[in-house]
Amino acid sequence: MTTENRLYEEKVWDRSIRIFHWVNVLCVLALMIIGSTILYANLLGISSEGKITLKIMHAYVGYVFAFNLLWRLVWGFVGSSTARWGAVMPFRRAYPGELKEWLRGIRTGQAPEYRGHNPAAKLMLLALYVLLVGQMTTGLVLAGTDLYFPPFGHEFAEWATGAGEDHSQLVGLVPGAKEMLDPEGYAAMRQFREPFIYIHKLFFWVMLVAVFLHVLAVVVEEIRHGNGLVSAMISGKKVFRQPPRN
Ligand code: HEM
Repeated sequence: MTTENRLYEEKVWDRSIRIFHWVNVLCVLALMIIGSTILYANLLGISSEGKITLKIMHAYVGYVFAFNLLWRLVWGFVGSSTARWGAVMPFRRAYPGELKEWLRGIRTGQAPEYRGHNPAAKLMLLALYVLLVGQMTTGLVLAGTDLYFPPFGHEFAEWATGAGEDHSQLVGLVPGAKEMLDPEGYAAMRQFREPFIYIHKLFFWVMLVAVFLHVLAVVVEEIRHGNGLVSAMISGKKVFRQPPRN
């Protein structure tokens, strides 16, 4: 075998990263499907009760999504070298130089190969993580304002009912139980909710575009380098035609 034909196989993604990735894909897909059904509930002729059921289902999947994402955020500090935030995010001092070199390589058809992510992928990942963390944060607030679910539901229920010290009364507050509400407190709580629902919907649309670009980039890279990017997220191993950069 000549040196030119030699292939290098390297273990690049640890087990935690691979599990995170596929759980995240499934959750985001489910959240987008249930979320768009809530968004178009009126158009689809779904009743108010049906809408509440959808919101509850959406929040349950949301908790799985949030735990998985929180675990990934921690893993970025303690995981393997390619899982660390230093290797994933475009914040290293050398980053602008790496990006220029990569862009030059793309133009001349000799872009370097990387064990982890290439410089353009790092920008995409920054955008994706901002969107994921944004959806998690706003979603958890909405689960509180709309369903009185944890982690903030108790506080929002208290605000909406204007109840004083007796917290036990608020625990079972049914979504939409108007007779228990204090009109002023409820109105203030709903006003507080406005920017969260706005960002949650906006990020939904931006995320649709970002997910499309992410998948497109994986397909293009796969055709260009044949690294086995998709199977690498299952086996953890990538294949290279030249010794990869870190
Ligand atoms: C990738 C993640 C997510 C996406 C793409 C997403 C998408 C959406 C969309 C499109 C809506 C409909 C908005 C509307 O018409 O009002 C929605 C509503 C909602 N989401 Fe999410 N969501 C995500 C994560 C979460 C998480 C983590 C939670 C909390 C556990 C959550 C809780 C809620 C709640 C409670 C609503 C109902 C708000 C309302 O309509 O009044 N979401 N989501």
